[in-house]
Amino acid sequence: MIIDYKNLITATGLVLLTAACNQPANEPGTTEAAEQEANTVTACVGSLDRKDFQDTIDGKSSDLYVLKNSNGACAAITSYGGRIVSLVVPDKDGKPTDVSVGFKTVKEYQGPGDAYFGALIGRVGNRIAKGKFSLDGKEYTLATNNGPNSLHGGIKGFQAVVWNAVQSNDSTLSLSYVSKDGEEGYPGNLTVNVVYTLGADNAVKIDYKATTDQKTVANLSNHTYFNLNGEGSGTILNHLVQINADKYTPVDATLIPTGKLEPVAGTPFDFTKPAAIGARLDTNVNQQLKNGGGYDHNFVLNDAGTSLHQAAQVTGDQSGIVMDVFTTEPGLQFYIGNFMSGKSSFKSGAKDDYRTAFCMETQHFPDAPNQKNFPSIVLEPGKEYTSTTIYKFGVKK
Ligand code: BGC
Repeated sequence: MIIDYKNLITATGLVLLTAACNQPANEPGTTEAAEQEANTVTACVGSLDRKDFQDTIDGKSSDLYVLKNSNGACAAITSYGGRIVSLVVPDKDGKPTDVSVGFKTVKEYQGPGDAYFGALIGRVGNRIAKGKFSLDGKEYTLATNNGPNSLHGGIKGFQAVVWNAVQSNDSTLSLSYVSKDGEEGYPGNLTVNVVYTLGADNAVKIDYKATTDQKTVANLSNHTYFNLNGEGSGTILNHLVQINADKYTPVDATLIPTGKLEPVAGTPFDFTKPAAIGARLDTNVNQQLKNGGGYDHNFVLNDAGTSLHQAAQVTGDQSGIVMDVFTTEPGLQFYIGNFMSGKSSFKSGAKDDYRTAFCMETQHFPDAPNQKNFPSIVLEPGKEYTSTTIYKFGVKK
C-alpha cells in the first residue's frame, strides 16, 4: 500500500514523523518504511512508538507530536505534560544525536521514576517555602511535595496533566491548558498557552502566555534534561558551561533562597567564563554546593529585561554540540542531576544515573512570592503573563 503523506497528515490532524531527520521533509521513503514509520518514529527520535504515547489520562487522550526541519533537527513532544521526549540535532560529524533524556512510554512518565523529564512546569516553577504564600493579606496553602516545601506547582503540576495540542505544520506545536481556581491550592482560573517552534536554525523556541480571572502567581518553565553528548553517553561533568550571571541566589539546606544576591566571583558558581561542570564540585569546600548537593541554584542573569538575552552556552565535550540559551526571564536554575538515582531506564536503555544530564530552567527566582526583593510573579486579571526561551543548537569543530 502506498501511503500519501500529505493525506495522512490531513486525515489524522497529526504530523507523524515520516521522513528521516536528514531527508527533506516531504521526501517519501519506501512503501515498507512508510508503513513502519506510520507508528514508529524512527531515525529522528530513536525508536519511539507513537502508540506508546496514546493513553487516556484523567479522561483526556495523550499523544506524540513531531516537529522537524530540513537541517537535521527533530523534536518529539507528548501532550502529557507538554514534555520534550526526544530532541535530535547533528553532532560535529553530522551524526543525529538525541540530546534530551527521557522515557519511551507515557506510562513511565506517570511512574515513580519521573523527575519532570522534559516537562512544562507550573503554575509556579521551583520551590515555595513551606508551601505557603499570601496575596492581599490572604494566605494560600499548597501541597508540600519536597521536604517542607512545595516544588514545581505541587503534586500534580503542569507536568502531570494532558494539554490540548494543535499541530498546524512541521515546525509548530501549540499546547493549552486551563488550570482551575484552587488547583493545587493556587487561586484563579489560569489559562495557559505554550507554543513550541522548531526553527530552520535548529533552535527550539518556547513561548509561554497565561491569563487569570483572579489575582494569582505564575512562573512557568521547561524541565528538559540535556546530555549534549547524547542520551546514554554518561557523565555531563566534562561539558563546558558559561552562564551570563555575575550573581546567584544562595539557598538554605532545603534549597530555599536566603533572599541575598551573592557575587559568583571567586566561587565555584563563577561561570562567566567557560568552565567544566565538574571542575569545582567539592562540597567539602563550598557550603552552597553542600546545600544543593551540587549545582542546583538560581543564577541572576546579567542582561535581564523584558527582551531576549543570552543566558548560557553549553558545549558537549565529545559531540561538539553547542547549546545557546536565550530567554526573557531574569533567572536560570542550573541543575546537574544530583538527584538522578540510576533506578529507571531511558529510551536508549541507559540508566538515569547520577549527573548524566543537566537542566537549564529559565524562570523568575525561586520562592518569589515570599521574597520581597525578588522580581514579582504576581499576575493580575486583565494582564498577560508572557515568557520566551530558546534552546539553539550548533556545533564547535
Ligand atoms: C530542582 C531540583 C529538583 C529537580 C527535579 C530542579 O528544578 O531545582 O532540586 O531535584 O528540579 O525535581
